[in-house]
Amino acid sequence: KKGSYDHFMQKEIHEQPHSLTTTMRGRLKDGGILLGGLKEHLKTIRRSRRVVFIGCGTSYNAALAARPFVEELTGIPVTMEVASDLLDRQGPIYREDTAVLVSQSGETADTLLALDYALENGALCVGVTNTVGSTLSRRTHCGVHINAGCEIGVASTKAYTSQIVAMAMMALAIGSDQISTQARRDAIISGLSSLPRNVSEVLKLDVEMKDLASSLIDSESLLVFGRGYNYATALEGALKVKEVALMHSEGMLAGEMKHGPLALVDENLPIIVIATRDACFSKQQSVIQQLLSRKGRLIVMCSKGDASAVCRSGSCRVIEVPEVADCLQPVINIIPLQLLAYHLTVLRGFDVDQPRNLAKSVTTQ
Ligand code: UD1
Ligand code: BG6
Ligand code: NA
Repeated sequence: KKGSYDHFMQKEIHEQPHSLTTTMRGRLKDGGILLGGLKEHLKTIRRSRRVVFIGCGTSYNAALAARPFVEELTGIPVTMEVASDLLDRQGPIYREDTAVLVSQSGETADTLLALDYALENGALCVGVTNTVGSTLSRRTHCGVHINAGCEIGVASTKAYTSQIVAMAMMALAIGSDQISTQARRDAIISGLSSLPRNVSEVLKLDVEMKDLASSLIDSESLLVFGRGYNYATALEGALKVKEVALMHSEGMLAGEMKHGPLALVDENLPIIVIATRDACFSKQQSVIQQLLSRKGRLIVMCSKGDASAVCRSGSCRVIEVPEVADCLQPVINIIPLQLLAYHLTVLRGFDVDQPRNLAKSVTTQ
């Protein structure tokens, strides 16, 4: 089943050009988006007051990556809920809400309990799942199967990128009645078509990420700074590192740097800064300058050709990735971090596919 790969996680990382292709298959139609599972519900979704994303772990992070473009393309306010926290608070959910429940397995206990809660409160419940016939798929009013193919590694990789792409298609479909954003939608749709090719391109960083991993093997901690479209990338990159490489890692909002995290910066603590091209680029350039002036040990992820624009002094390690439509950039940017977590795990001698204490699907509370 693993073919020429040593581990399922490795296979699933390298499979992403294909899994993303199957996620989009038959759904990019005549320059528009066709999601059979949502077609009849788009009007209701457009009328909703709010979209509430609900998930756990990587699925929550995928929803967080989708939040900015769902807001932009639909104009509907989006709030984020970790399923267990929504339940703990019994947070308000209304009939006028669209609850979007995201779960690779479709069987995560907290997500299903949050679904029951959203159903009881009268929200329209939309599922985003990789598992046809799962409890989530059956109990939601409608939804999208992400069709990424079976994922075996406990640490989710290809499901994450397919979830983001499925939600991008969802946002495009919901917003498709808006004339003012037509050109923007066209650009994103064309970005989706070329995404598998760009994913193949970024996968060529494998050797470079193995080399980076070997330089981090003895680190106690790793910070990841992101913002905007790539806040989620920072959280998800850090989650990969902690769950499989068993290294402390935190994803942080770069805009919050001065409100605490800056105190941690010294010449030893490795910090990854995501600074690919988007509307936040110049803000990230200044974050890098401030970290360098405190002698931070930086690894900067930037768009191809931007090495000197992000680090004039040449004192950072730079990871250059292909540039895609800004809102799809999280799909590209997570891949070097998945590779890094993978190699770090192997080099540190831990179990890649069955990390200590974790389960693929948490079906009890
Ligand atoms: C469907 C078929 C697909 C076929 C395609 C051809 C299934 C599972 N999918 O895909 O094999 O190639 O038509 O037109 O038979 N749903 C939920 N909750 C979820 C996910 C999905 O209720 O979490 C519902 C959808 O609203 C829809 C159904 O399940 O009614 C199938 O969803 P999906 O597979 O995404 O639909 P299509 O892409 O149209
Ligand atoms: C578990 C897995 O914690 O459940 C994670 O180890 C996963 O990889 C999380 O992200 C949520 O799972 P699901 O199936 O609801 O997406
Ligand atoms: Na259903």
